[in-house]
Amino acid sequence: SRILLLQGPNLNLLGTREPHIYGATTLADIETQLTPVAKAAGFELEQLQSNAEHVLIDRIHAAREDGTAFILINPGAFTHTSVAIRDALAGVDIPFIEVHISNVHAREPFRQHSYLSDIAQGVICGLGVQGYELALQAAIRQVNA
Ligand code: DQA
Repeated sequence: SRILLLQGPNLNLLGTREPHIYGATTLADIETQLTPVAKAAGFELEQLQSNAEHVLIDRIHAAREDGTAFILINPGAFTHTSVAIRDALAGVDIPFIEVHISNVHAREPFRQHSYLSDIAQGVICGLGVQGYELALQAAIRQVNA
């Protein structure tokens, strides 16, 4: 089955965007690193980045029909604004982990509220891009439990 890795707005710039906060790793690097980990556990990893809320929502809806067992999502700034992404995740009822590269709790006050955290299986933040790997390991363990 599939593990879907969703990346929200501006994360296409990862690697060049505010590298003092987000580091030098790119989305392609993350996919290269995580794909074999997922594969070894019998999962197909699919990564999708979009700057458009509706694209993320449509992909979440499609996940209900395509054998997605688990979603890993870094919603970017939509974390702090999007009731619609929350409703999509709640609507498809697929377990998900929320990932943030930076420690949102150590930043501006507007980053300290998430519309997703209370319905997530868990939240990882502040551990850099390693958070994606940790989230994948947790997802694999939860699906196989
Ligand atoms: C982020 C944190 C968000 O507040 C911000 O808008 C992002 C990235 C992170 O990974 O640290 O775009 O989700």
